[in-house]
Order: sequence, then C-alpha cells, then structure tokens
Amino acid sequence: MRCLAREEARVTVVMTRAAEQFISRLTFGALSGNRVHGDMFADDPAGIMAHITLSREADCVLIAPATAQTIARLAHGMADDLLSATVLAADIPVVLCPAMNTNMLRHPATRDNLERLRGIGYTVIEPASGTLACGEVGAGRMPGWDLVRETLLALFADQDLEGRRILITAGPTREPLDPVRYLSNRSSGRMGYALARTARRRGGEVRLVTGPVSLSDPPGVEVIRVTTAQEMRDAVLALAGSVDIIVGAAAVADFRPRSCRELKIKKSGADPCIELEPNPDIMAELGRSRRSGQLLVGFAAESHDHEQEGRRKLEEKNLDLVVVNDILGSRTGFDVETNQVTLLTARDRRQLPLLSKEATADRIWDRVVELGRGSG
Ligand code: C5P
Repeated sequence: MRCLAREEARVTVVMTRAAEQFISRLTFGALSGNRVHGDMFADDPAGIMAHITLSREADCVLIAPATAQTIARLAHGMADDLLSATVLAADIPVVLCPAMNTNMLRHPATRDNLERLRGIGYTVIEPASGTLACGEVGAGRMPGWDLVRETLLALFADQDLEGRRILITAGPTREPLDPVRYLSNRSSGRMGYALARTARRRGGEVRLVTGPVSLSDPPGVEVIRVTTAQEMRDAVLALAGSVDIIVGAAAVADFRPRSCRELKIKKSGADPCIELEPNPDIMAELGRSRRSGQLLVGFAAESHDHEQEGRRKLEEKNLDLVVVNDILGSRTGFDVETNQVTLLTARDRRQLPLLSKEATADRIWDRVVELGRGSG
C-alpha cells in the first residue's frame, strides 16, 4: 500500500470476508486514507450499488493476493461478493497476483482457472518461489513489489517501443591491477537501469549489458553481467547486429593497466608505477559498423565545456543522439536519484528539467521514438 502511495496512486481497498480474518479494515483505511469496502449491499455515497461505483471510478483493479478461491470465482464469472461483482462490472485492466500453497497453485483446477482468466485478458503475474505462509517451500509467494509496479506502470505506458530490440550498457567497468585491486569509477548504473526499465515498460525487447553495480535486475529485461571494458565490448558486439537501438549509458573505463599482476602488489620496495593502455571505445566501434536504420545513443558525462564535448562525441562516434550531463552538479552527477540532461542531435538541442532518472529515461525514449520515426 505504501509503495502504491509513493507512486501517487489513489487506492480504494475492497476486502473479501477471508481477507478480514487476517487484517482489519481500519489498517487499510489508515494506510490508504480512503474508506475500505467489503459489503455488497452497504450504503453507497453515490446512491448506486457499491460495485458499480467502484468499477467506474478506478483505472485498474489489482488483486493481491489472489487466492485460489477468488481466482475460481472470477474464472466462473461469479458475482456473489463485492470484489467479484466489482471485477465483473469493470471494463478496466485487471491484474492478479496469485498467492497460495504450491499444491493449490499446481492443481489442474487452479491452472485451468488462471488460463481462463488470461484468456479473458486479465494480467496474471507469476508467483515467486520461496518459503510460503504454510511453511512449505515452492512456488506460490506474492511476487515482489518491483514486478507488480512494472506491470501496473506498463498498463498505462504508451507501447511505442513495441517490437523494438534494444541494447543498453550500464554501470562502471573494473580494470584489474592485481588479484585484489582494480581501476574503476563512481558510476552507480542507475541511469542505464532506468533506461532499461522504462524501455521494457514501453514494450521494448531489452538486453542490458552491465558492469558491477548493486541494483536489482529490471523485471522482464535480459541482464548480461560483465566486469572489464573488453568483456563489455565483446558482449555488446555479439548482440549489436541483431538490435534496432543501442544506448551506451555505461561509464566505460578509458584506460586499463597494461598488465594484471598475478600476485598482489606489495607495499615494500620502490613506489609502484601503473602503466596504462587505452580500452576499446565501444560506441565509436558501433558507430563505424552500424547497419542502416540502427539508432545509436551515447552519453557525455562532462565536468566542463559540456555541449561542445557532447557535439564532438556525436560527430566523432557517429551517434544519433548524445545525452549530456554535468557530473559536478550535486543532483545530476554519479550515484544520485535525479538528473538534468541536454539532448543533442545533429539538428537541435533540448534541455530537460531536473527529473528523476526514470523520468529522464522516459524523455530520452520520447526523443528516440521521434528520431526512429524520422522526425528528428
Ligand atoms: O568519450 P567518452 O567516454 O566521454 O564517451 C562517452 C560515451 O561513449 C558513453 O556513451 C559511453 O558509454 C561510451 N564509451 C564507450 N567505450 C569507451 C568509452 C566510452 O562505449 N571506451
């Protein structure tokens, strides 16, 4: 409930009789800040039947957890309590999070019921596996909020990247010096992960090649983990031929130690000297070998001469779009939740306001969609 409130969703809770055995109406009333409903024939403020008002007011119905009993009732079009009647009357998206004992979930009756509900057009989120409320271990847990959130947001997002195959790089790379040390940078991977999430939400088929970060995998995205710039290059090049859009959001280390010592470098002796050599420039390589129609988007994380540097990268790397951001800004640099970027193409520049990284990612996709339509 709190997670939904964070998304600024206005939530009205409908409880079944079984739900009220576990939790009080008062709790949900306090959490949602709204009247909780449960009685089919209670007075409705609008003077209509409660199930009709509820089904008209909402933009979607989320049933979480969806028990075997509720699933069975919905699958058979029953309308003998407020929840089932509301769903039957609703002409809006319905999302179910089945959660129950593994055997109940595996039972052919439940499987058939879920199949039927999918056929009707309801979205059924796969239950997670783990220890269940009954103590057994298996499938049947409520899915994590992250997956539910993405499913809900996708319902309301334009599917303007549907059918588009998208490759995104994210995070830093690590260039080993010896078995315990490496050269790296402060990239958190947040911008690249936000791009992957939002692209998936908009219907894209997304692959994410990521350096080491501490972020959870975006739901529905194929994640390929790498460590060094060379590994990132190899992973990207292996996929590049089969995608329509490539976004280089990774902070690839420009240099690597010329050699990685087999043994740990000791403190004693002369001052150590690390010899560096350049890493391959992945985006530049893609810019040289791109197939026609493929869109390439790069980032320019700059501390000064931002736009000039962005333009230079646009040309030198043969990109369609460069996203310029100021790494010295306290709310636009590394490891923060927000970003403020300028979008540069050969034809124009668009400066975006300070936004969350997800909102920034959405604006970048808006521009990519425009470029893809040829309205650059
Ligand atoms: O030249 P610079 O590193 O500032 O360029 C940034 C852009 O180029 C980013 O899109 C980054 O992902 C990409 N890049 C790359 N390979 C490198 C260095 C940067 O793909 N070795």
